[in-house]
Amino acid sequence: MAEDEPQGKPADQAHWTRVADDWIAWARSPDHDAFWAYRTALADFIGGGDGEVLDVGCGEGRVSRLLGTLGYRVTAADAVTAMVAAAAANGSAHRYAVADIAALPFGDQRFDKVVAYNVLMDVADVPGGLREISRVMRPQAELVVSLVHPFRDRGSFAGPAPDAPFVMQGSYFGRERFEGREERDGLVMHFAGWSQPLEAYAAALEGAGLAITAIREPIPAAGDGAARWQQWTRLPMFLWLKARPLVSPP
Ligand SMILES: C[S@@+](CC[C@H](N)C(=O)[O-])C[C@H]1O[C@@H](n2cnc3c(N)ncnc32)[C@H](O)[C@@H]1O
Repeated sequence: MAEDEPQGKPADQAHWTRVADDWIAWARSPDHDAFWAYRTALADFIGGGDGEVLDVGCGEGRVSRLLGTLGYRVTAADAVTAMVAAAAANGSAHRYAVADIAALPFGDQRFDKVVAYNVLMDVADVPGGLREISRVMRPQAELVVSLVHPFRDRGSFAGPAPDAPFVMQGSYFGRERFEGREERDGLVMHFAGWSQPLEAYAAALEGAGLAITAIREPIPAAGDGAARWQQWTRLPMFLWLKARPLVSPP
């Protein structure tokens, strides 16, 4: 059951509202996208626990379900009503909220852990979103973030060969809108968001009073279907980090 409904839909949410059905089909199709090749490494990075965790930008709930298997009590939140409804229909979490990252309907210091898995690239106001996340974190809490690696959107592999060169277009620096369409095995997905350098995320964390405690550049797991992601064993597709509230000096 949703805890709250936003009064109006911010302009940057229109995209995900439009593509919600496509995303639900895309994310629910096992081994369809890269998530599945990184899932075991993600579980290891997050680690087990029994605290209260917020999965912000939960989509149809696959990260929430993973967090549940790790032992956490999970609150799944997303700005798009259809996503939260899909997460709830699959019993993905213990609680649900329709909520924009910039206005979380929770009291201060409510969570032991917050997970923002591949959502910050979709958010117009990353500094505002991270300040809101920081507000709902307990003093000892941990934030786990996955980003599409900041240089990922700035270039592409020149061909399908495993050793094809990665060619960068334009500059790594600056904030750019990205839009792209992917089609695979009969499913189509339109992605849209903002590409920003790592420094922009680091500055937003700093501004929210959060200190980075770990960084990982994971590689996809070997196994069935791994050939599809082989190029990404040479370059990181994702950037994972952990951050904790800065402790003020006494
Ligand atoms: C790429 S999907 C990732 C979903 C999920 N984390 C996963 O990996 O399966 C991005 C999600 O972020 C949500 N989202 C985008 N902007 C948001 C915002 N400002 N506040 C909360 N959720 C947002 C979208 O509705 C969408 O469900």
